Amino acid sequence: MTKEKFDLTGRVALVTGSTRGIGKAIGDAFEEYGATVIRHNTKVCDLADAAAVDAFFDRLEAEGALPDILVANASVQAKIPWTEFPLDEACREIQVNFLATLRMFQRVYPKMKSQGWGRLITVGSVNERRPHPDMCVYAATKSAQENLVRGIARQVAKEGITVNNLCPGVFNTDRNRECLADPVYGPKVTAAIPMHDYAVPEDAAGAALLLASDAGRYITGATIMVDGGLSLPG
Ligand SMILES: NC(=O)c1ccc[n+]([C@@H]2O[C@H](COP(=O)([O-])OP(=O)(O)OC[C@H]3O[C@@H](n4cnc5c(N)ncnc54)[C@H](OP(=O)(O)O)[C@@H]3O)[C@@H](O)[C@H]2O)c1
Repeated sequence: MTKEKFDLTGRVALVTGSTRGIGKAIGDAFEEYGATVIRHNTKVCDLADAAAVDAFFDRLEAEGALPDILVANASVQAKIPWTEFPLDEACREIQVNFLATLRMFQRVYPKMKSQGWGRLITVGSVNERRPHPDMCVYAATKSAQENLVRGIARQVAKEGITVNNLCPGVFNTDRNRECLADPVYGPKVTAAIPMHDYAVPEDAAGAALLLASDAGRYITGATIMVDGGLSLPG
């Protein structure tokens, strides 16, 4: 009985940034549980280009492929002290990490509302709780996204749509590969994680599947940390 609630057969899922890293692992899990997954990366649609986001959704709409499940996973980040952070880079992070998410949510909402079922999921970051000193702008975009999730969740809950935020801790993906392999910095990072290990992309898939499926139908407006305890105080 419980197993069936995770089944995604017949659902269309768009996972942004799903050709590698955490997005790929989430897309793979959704496929394993029966969903049709639309794979996305910068070549499919660069989220830094607001017009391209609308053009992408125009195409999906024309093809009758608007998703039932949307995971806003792709993001950009730069490690630069806030005192020197270039405003054009800040604008890029705000566009990719926040505005594109808002626009995608706006584009899929009418379909989700009309069918009385939908899943909106953002991928946040442990930086919402413990910002890296040189990633304040990235952390701010992720916090904005989390706030958006809570604001929307309350309004759409009665329409069969859940809205949640999944927050990874330290994952061994392309963006972290080099620093985790560093013989000095790598062990320092793992020592700070209560589980004393970083995550692999597949570690995010179970939480995403819960939020995307009927198994998670009563979870909304939540932030789920997948961080080995890194965000815990102390
Ligand atoms: N890795 C971590 O430790 C960690 C920690 C906390 C939060 N997160 C969050 O988890 C999510 C996934 O991270 P990850 O480490 O798996 O990422 P990743 O390995 O760097 O992969 C990023 C994916 O996003 C796509 N992407 C990047 N910029 C894009 C853009 N402007 N337009 C469209 N697609 C774009 C990439 O496409 P291309 O292949 O075309 O570049 C790629 O498919 C992100 O939201 C990140 O902030 C990650």
